[in-house]
Amino acid sequence: MNSILAPIFTRRSIRQFLPSTLTEAQLRDLLEAAMAAPSACAKDPWRFLVVQEKAHLTALAAGLPNGAFLKDAAAGIVVCGDLQAAHDGQLSFLLQDCGAAIENLLLAASLLGLGACWLGVHPRQERIEQLRHLCRIPESILPVAVIALGRPGEEKPPRTRHQDAFVRRETW
Ligand SMILES: Cc1cc2nc3c(=O)[nH]c(=O)nc-3n(C[C@H](O)[C@H](O)[C@H](O)COP(=O)(O)O)c2cc1C
Repeated sequence: MNSILAPIFTRRSIRQFLPSTLTEAQLRDLLEAAMAAPSACAKDPWRFLVVQEKAHLTALAAGLPNGAFLKDAAAGIVVCGDLQAAHDGQLSFLLQDCGAAIENLLLAASLLGLGACWLGVHPRQERIEQLRHLCRIPESILPVAVIALGRPGEEKPPRTRHQDAFVRRETW
């Protein structure tokens, strides 16, 4: 692993959080990083819903089968997309753009010393509906994922999952 790329290898999914709150400056930094991501034709269809109230986080966690630990997080950022804003009105562009924003957000969290984990929502319809209900997200806005954020309660080693077998040259 090239040490210049350490910030990439150091980012890991953190699923244990210590009690904490996020400052407005930290939130701003995270959202600025997310919105620095590439997006198709720079349409920036991403939208972000910040959840910090304990009771709200607990309710959201209950609707995410693999995200129970969201209840211990300082914040959850629901990353959504606006299909009307997406390039060519295409769901695929919306999802690719939101994915790029999410990775930027996760890298920024790691660089700021925060723990973070991507919690899958789309395409699980029941999770989408639950989030719509709890966060009053309109039909025109698609929740894609929730990012749990907080003071890390666990440490994980840097790593890559590089495999030579996943790489072809010139032709398949
Ligand atoms: C689309 C997507 C959905 C994910 N959903 C969850 C989830 O619901 N719960 C969870 O704990 N981790 C979730 N993850 C995180 C992955 O489990 C994690 O990235 C993977 O195990 C690799 O570990 P690392 O992030 O530490 O490198 C998700 C990741 C992606 C990209």
